[in-house]
Amino acid sequence: MLRFLLVAFMFLISSGFISLVQSVCIRGCDLALASYYIQPGNDIYSVSKYINTSVNNILKYNLNTIHNVYSIQKYVRINVPFRCDCINGDFFGHVFKYDHRIGDTYEKIAEVSYANLTTRDWIQMFNIYDGSQIPDDAIINVTVNCSCGDPSVSKDYGLFLTYPLRAGENLDSVSSAANLSSGLIRSYNPDVNFSQGSGLVYIPWRG
Ligand SMILES: *[C@@H]1O[C@H](CO)[C@@H](O)[C@H](O)[C@H]1NC(C)=O
Ligand SMILES: *[C@@H]1O[C@H](CO)[C@@H](O)[C@H](O)[C@H]1NC(C)=O
Ligand SMILES: *[C@@H]1O[C@H](CO)[C@@H](O)[C@H](O)[C@H]1NC(C)=O
Ligand SMILES: *[C@@H]1O[C@H](CO)[C@@H](O)[C@H](O)[C@H]1NC(C)=O
Ligand SMILES: *[C@@H]1O[C@H](CO)[C@@H](O)[C@H](O)[C@H]1NC(C)=O
Ligand SMILES: *[C@@H]1O[C@H](CO)[C@@H](O)[C@H](O)[C@H]1NC(C)=O
Repeated sequence: MLRFLLVAFMFLISSGFISLVQSVCIRGCDLALASYYIQPGNDIYSVSKYINTSVNNILKYNLNTIHNVYSIQKYVRINVPFRCDCINGDFFGHVFKYDHRIGDTYEKIAEVSYANLTTRDWIQMFNIYDGSQIPDDAIINVTVNCSCGDPSVSKDYGLFLTYPLRAGENLDSVSSAANLSSGLIRSYNPDVNFSQGSGLVYIPWRG
């Protein structure tokens, strides 16, 4: 039995299923987009603060969606630019700084302020404070995942939208909203159930 496990382990290592020291990424990319679903309580100013960019910079990526910055539509997605870093050699993401306010929980920060671009657990992972004991004046690390592309899929796309799935969506609705083929979107998200109503997918975007 032990011998079998050892052989199996050696096989997994040699075939690349397990890599002991290899890092996933070396560097990030200057630009990624976050798909931010606007709900009551959030406007373009609060979004620009959370995602750490200027209102003008947001407008550049939403020429067809935002017509009036003073009263932007609710219940629409806007694209918000951010830098996609290689974090600890492990994964692509960006760590935003969020000023904690009384009454905030990691869950609320993830679901409301960051529109499900991250999760409670993923925020907790990068903060020393336990979720039940966040000091009032804390600065919280909010990590949002991103993608810089995958040369093994296609070299044509280098800009990616981090897209939190919402209830009621499916692969067809997501691809027609992006005006891309479902095959292309699937190829970047091979294992995702697009109808699951939550979780992130990465959508190639034209620069
Ligand atoms: C926020 O943006 C500024 C200017 O681009 C940059 O210098 C700073 O590092 C950013 N901070 C975070 C937490 O992303
Ligand atoms: C985030 O997810 C929660 C739980 O699924 C949902 O109630 C909420 O409306 C979502 N928020 C946004 C901005 O999509
Ligand atoms: C971000 O990516 C890491 C590494 O792939 C993954 O473990 C984590 O669950 C992701 N976080 C979210 C909120 O999708
Ligand atoms: C945020 O991340 C930085 C860098 O990893 C770490 O030094 C700091 O303690 C973190 N902040 C919190 C509140 O955990
Ligand atoms: C969708 O993409 C096709 C070809 O890629 C293009 O001809 C068409 O104008 C696009 N439609 C929209 C609404 O962007
Ligand atoms: C995908 O998720 C939906 C909603 O949770 C579920 O009804 C469906 O069975 C799932 N599809 C697959 C192939 O797992």
